[in-house]
Amino acid sequence: MVSTEQTISVTINGTTYERDVEARKLLIHFIRDDLDLTGSHVGCDTGNCGACSVIVDGQLVKSCMMLAVQADGSNVETVEGLADGEQLSKLQQSFRDHHALQCGYCTPGMLMSATALLRSNPHPSEDEIKKGLQGNICRCTGYWNIFEAVKAASE
Ligand code: FES
Ligand code: FES
Repeated sequence: MVSTEQTISVTINGTTYERDVEARKLLIHFIRDDLDLTGSHVGCDTGNCGACSVIVDGQLVKSCMMLAVQADGSNVETVEGLADGEQLSKLQQSFRDHHALQCGYCTPGMLMSATALLRSNPHPSEDEIKKGLQGNICRCTGYWNIFEAVKAASE
C-alpha cells in the first residue's frame, strides 16, 4: 500500500518539530493533536470562526484552512508563544485588564489576529481594529471589551 504520510519539519514558537503526517491532516490538528499545543482552538473547521488563527511566516492564517504539509519548513507562531515565561504580552495583559474574554474559546484566535494587526499597523484606527478582527467570532462578549483591549494595547 502506498503511504500517504510525509515527513515535515515545522518551527513553532522557536522549537522545530519533525513529524510524519498524513497528507490530508490540517495544520490545526497537527498543532493540537500531534504536538499537544492545545491553546489554538477548533470552533468550526470551515474557516469561519477564527478560533484556530495562528501566524505562519508572518501571515495570519486560519489553521483549519491549511494542510500541515503546506507548513513544511515554515515558522509558526501560536498563542503559547505570546507570553515571555510568566510575563504576559502587552496585548494579553490588556485583554486581562479590559475583561476581554468570558468563556475564552475565541481568545487565542483573537489574540493572534490582534497581534498580527498590531505588528503590521501599530496604531490602527478604530475602523482598522474592527476590520482586523472581522474574521474572528466571539459568542460571549459582544466584542466591545475586545475592541477596547486592542485599542489600549495600541496606545
Ligand atoms: S476552526 Fe478554523 S476558522 Fe473556525
Ligand atoms: S469569550 Fe466566549 S466566545 Fe469569545
